Amino acid sequence: MEKKNIDWGSLGFGYQTTDYRYVANFKNGAWDEGGLTTDSNIVMNECAGVLQYAQTVFEGMKAYTTEDGRTVVFRPDLNAERMENSARRLEMPVFPKERFLEAVKETVRANEAWVPPYGTGASLYIRPYMFGSSPVIGVKPAEEYQFRILVTPVGPYFKGGIKPLTLKVSDFDRAAPHGTGHIKAGLNYAMSLHAIVTAHEEGYDENMYLDAGTRTFVEETGGANFLFVTKDGTVVTPKSNSILPSITRRSLIYVAQHYLGLKAEEREIPFEEVKDMAECGLCGTAAVISPVGRIDNHGETILFPSGMTEMGPITKKLYETLTGIQMGRIEAPEGWIVEV
Ligand code: PLP
Ligand code: COI
Repeated sequence: MEKKNIDWGSLGFGYQTTDYRYVANFKNGAWDEGGLTTDSNIVMNECAGVLQYAQTVFEGMKAYTTEDGRTVVFRPDLNAERMENSARRLEMPVFPKERFLEAVKETVRANEAWVPPYGTGASLYIRPYMFGSSPVIGVKPAEEYQFRILVTPVGPYFKGGIKPLTLKVSDFDRAAPHGTGHIKAGLNYAMSLHAIVTAHEEGYDENMYLDAGTRTFVEETGGANFLFVTKDGTVVTPKSNSILPSITRRSLIYVAQHYLGLKAEEREIPFEEVKDMAECGLCGTAAVISPVGRIDNHGETILFPSGMTEMGPITKKLYETLTGIQMGRIEAPEGWIVEV
């Protein structure tokens, strides 16, 4: 397969149109057979549910070229399951898991020339999404939906690659208690736009959101979960009903315990405890693991002992093991790597 003529190593996290995308439509209570199209535009009614009441959910995963030249996707079954939960919460139909997995493979295969070669540091970002396409004017779910998958080659989410990030504790909340923080709905990201623009204007890379109810526990950022390492070498990640159950985070806990022999736990983390942590990182499909060097909280500054130039040692081991598994250098647990 001849690859596209792209300077893979200098890609950022941006969108570019690729050759094929997948489309299926839900009408009269059933999904049609779906298929690939070259048309990257969508035409819909002016009163579509997604346009009026933000009825849309999405997913994010990546395809990689392994060291031995295979094209693989990382744990797409978990994305299928999470999208099912997201759809149910927004009163949308479920796109069946088996069809989701087939559609992901079909879309990546059709765009194989866009899957970055091994060793470039880039990957093919896969974005499945679904939205209410029929008109609604009273507040209620749409009757018709479209499920699509687009792919686009990407580099690092944060400019500067793995240079430690500076965060601020946000003045805004991302998700309400008993709200939609645990699903991947576009509305959560719309909520975070003013906060991220404000943070960037103030010179920060990202926000740390605290729990909206009490503003005392660590939640997540706009697009990644947190991961901390305590001074005695335990990996800890926040537990909360209003954060996205990150597939990267769940994988890293397993990697910490089963590959690195570390203690790893998911528990509530009071913000008060953060200043005592040895390392901090953001984890997610886009973020992979991005180290955090500093967090500002309204006049208080936390500087992690790992510093502002490099990843902390345990974060680095987690990063190397996870990316090694994803790129086929390290044997993966059963079912984690799906060949397209
Ligand atoms: N949290 C939020 C809000 C996200 O948007 C993402 C990205 O998907 C994550 C966490 C990380 O989740 P995952 O590791 O499944 O990509
Ligand atoms: C992902 O990591 O897949 C996401 O959806 C995060 C988004 C902020 C790009």
